[in-house]
Amino acid sequence: MFNTTAWNRLRYSLYAPVYDVVAERAFRRPRREALGQVTWQPGMRVLLVGAGTGLDLPWLPRDIELHAGDLSPAMVTRLARRAQAMGRDVQAREMDAERLDFPDAHFDVVVMHLILAVMPDPVRGLAEARRVLRKDGQLCVMDKFQPDDRPAGLARRSLNALTSAIATDITRQARPLLEGAGFTIEQDTPVMMGSLFRALLARPTPA
Ligand SMILES: C[S@@+](CC[C@H](N)C(=O)[O-])C[C@H]1O[C@@H](n2cnc3c(N)ncnc32)[C@H](O)[C@@H]1O
Repeated sequence: MFNTTAWNRLRYSLYAPVYDVVAERAFRRPRREALGQVTWQPGMRVLLVGAGTGLDLPWLPRDIELHAGDLSPAMVTRLARRAQAMGRDVQAREMDAERLDFPDAHFDVVVMHLILAVMPDPVRGLAEARRVLRKDGQLCVMDKFQPDDRPAGLARRSLNALTSAIATDITRQARPLLEGAGFTIEQDTPVMMGSLFRALLARPTPA
């Protein structure tokens, strides 16, 4: 499978100029629904992981402390530009979701939209999300997933060799991934294309 972090950095830097054309309108409702599942409070410290061009920004409350990281410098530049145009204070920087540059238990909310199916090692990404989340923190996920009750068949796995290299993995299963990483799923809502795209709200499972 041709899906590495170096390749993702390169291809998303190439996609950055056209990303909004493809993803802004298509994912507007799913991302609003996903963020609507979070219980927001003023002053919360929030991290967007694999934040892209910042298409989540319009749907986030203003009275939060917002941080954003992305592997691709071109994405970070666009996100910073969007934040400035919106008059929002966002700490945006280049960052690998597999090595978050933050201390343990630092965030009230971690948002992972359309990143778990992209990064080569989602288990590592979720372990990092769990590490930086407070013990009562919330993980907000929106992505495409294979149904939890059956692993991907041969045809889907074959197609995945192509889709994971140019777009996204289509074989990942939400519940095994999140529960395996130590999260308890509180909400799981189909948001697009039947139940292909789901919005999940999870919290760290108490030790
Ligand atoms: C499909 S886009 C989603 C962007 C944004 N979250 C959204 O909802 O529009 C995937 C993003 O993940 C970023 N990405 C891929 N691998 C990453 C990694 N290991 N760490 C951080 N960001 C990563 C890409 O650069 C790209 O911006």
